[in-house]
Amino acid sequence: MGTPDSTSTPFWGPDFASLQHADPEIAEVVSGELAGQREGLRLIAGENFASSAVLAALGSTLANKYAEGYPGRRHHGGCAQADRAEELAARRARELFGADHANVQPHSGSAANLAAYAAVLVPGDTILAMSLPHGGHLTHGSRVNYSGRWFDTVAYGVREGDERIDYEQVEALALAHRPRLIVCGATAYPRLVDFAAFRQIADRVGAYLLVDAAHIVGLVAGQAVPSPVPYADIVTGTTHKVLRGPPGGMILCRAALAERIDRAVYPFTQGGPHMHAVAAKAVALREAATPAYRAYTRQVIANAHTLTQGLQAEGMRAVSGGTDTHLALLDLRGIGVSGHDAERRCERAGITLNRNAVPFDPVKPTIASGIRVGTAAVTTQGMTEGDLKEIAVLIGRAVREDDDATARGVRAAVAELVSTHPAYPRG
Ligand SMILES: Cc1ncc(COP(=O)(O)O)c(C=O)c1O
Repeated sequence: MGTPDSTSTPFWGPDFASLQHADPEIAEVVSGELAGQREGLRLIAGENFASSAVLAALGSTLANKYAEGYPGRRHHGGCAQADRAEELAARRARELFGADHANVQPHSGSAANLAAYAAVLVPGDTILAMSLPHGGHLTHGSRVNYSGRWFDTVAYGVREGDERIDYEQVEALALAHRPRLIVCGATAYPRLVDFAAFRQIADRVGAYLLVDAAHIVGLVAGQAVPSPVPYADIVTGTTHKVLRGPPGGMILCRAALAERIDRAVYPFTQGGPHMHAVAAKAVALREAATPAYRAYTRQVIANAHTLTQGLQAEGMRAVSGGTDTHLALLDLRGIGVSGHDAERRCERAGITLNRNAVPFDPVKPTIASGIRVGTAAVTTQGMTEGDLKEIAVLIGRAVREDDDATARGVRAAVAELVSTHPAYPRG
C-alpha cells in the first residue's frame, strides 16, 4: 500500500510493491495473469478488459465499507459515500437503459437471477426457459442448479433445421404448462432474441417475462442491438462481459416490481453490497454512456461477423449460419476435431477460447462438438476487421494441426498481433 496522505493523495490505491512484499506468491499470480492478458488472445465471450478507472474503484477502500440496506435506509452507520456511489450507479443504469428502476447490488449474474426469481416465484412454481444444451444458462432451470431443484422447469430450444429459437414450440409449451415466469436470454445463442414475441406469449398465459441479458446488456447499452427493457417485466444482467465493468450483476425492472426486487436482493438473497464493486459499476455505466462506447459496441459486432466468416472459411460451421452479436458458436465436426481438443490446442498457441456444446450435440459437454468465441476483449484492444481475419486463420491453424511447431508459430504470430494492440499498455 502507498502512504495514506489525504491532503496530497486522496486515493489509497493498489500498490504492487506492497503486495510483492506481503505475499510474493499472490503477487506472482497477479503479475502472471496480467502477462497472460497482455500476451495472448482472449476470445472467451464473457471476458473483457476493464478500464483503469473501473479497476481503481474496485481496488479502493470502499471495499472496507459495510452498507446493508439501500441509500438513506442502511443498517450501518457512516454510509454517506456508499449512498452516493449506489445512487450514482442506479441512476446511471436507469438513464442508460431507460428503465423505471435499477438495483445494482447483486454480486453476480447468477445472484441477480436468484433475486429475480425470488421476487415473483415461490418454490414449486413452473418456469419456462431455454435448455442449457441449446444455449441457456445454468440458472435457467438446470438440474444441477437451485433453479432446476426449486422450480418445475420446462425447457424450450432451437429448431434443428436453422438452429434458431422455435417460437411456436415456446408458445405451445407455455399454453400446455402455464408457467408463472418465462425466461429468455442465453449464454451461447449468437442470434437476436425476439423480445416482442416472448412478450406476446407471456401475455397469452399471464406469465412474467424475465430477460436474462447477461451477455448482451453491454450491446444494449451501446445501442448496437434492440433493448429488452420495453418488453420485459424484469431484465437481469452482468456488469462484466461486453459492458466492461467489474464482475457483478444488475437488475432493471418496471416500477410496479421495484420494491419486490429490492427486497429479494436484500435482505432475501444477499447481505451487504460490495461497495467497491458498486462504485466500479457506476464508473462502467458512465463510460458506457459515451459515443466512444457506442462505437465500440458496433465494432464488437462487426468484428464478430468477420471472425465468424473467417472461421467458416477455415472449414468450421457457424451454428445458425452466423451471428448478430458479439459471440459465435462453431461446430467442428466437419474438420474432425472436438471442442475439447480445439480449446487445448488454441491454449497452447496463446489463444483462449472455450469448448461448447452445439445444439443436438451427440457428445458429452466436457468434450463438446464446438467452440464459442467472442470479440469484446479484442475490440477493447483496438482490433478491427483486418485483425479478426488474421485471428481466424491463426485459430484454423492451431485447431487443425496438433504439433509443437505449429503451436510455436501461431504463438509468435499472436505475440506480434497483440504487440500492436496491447491490453493494458506498458508505461
Ligand atoms: C445468460 C447468463 N446468465 C447469467 C450468467 C451468470 O453470471 P455470473 O457468472 O456472474 O453468475 C451468465 C454467465 O455467463 C450468463 O451467460
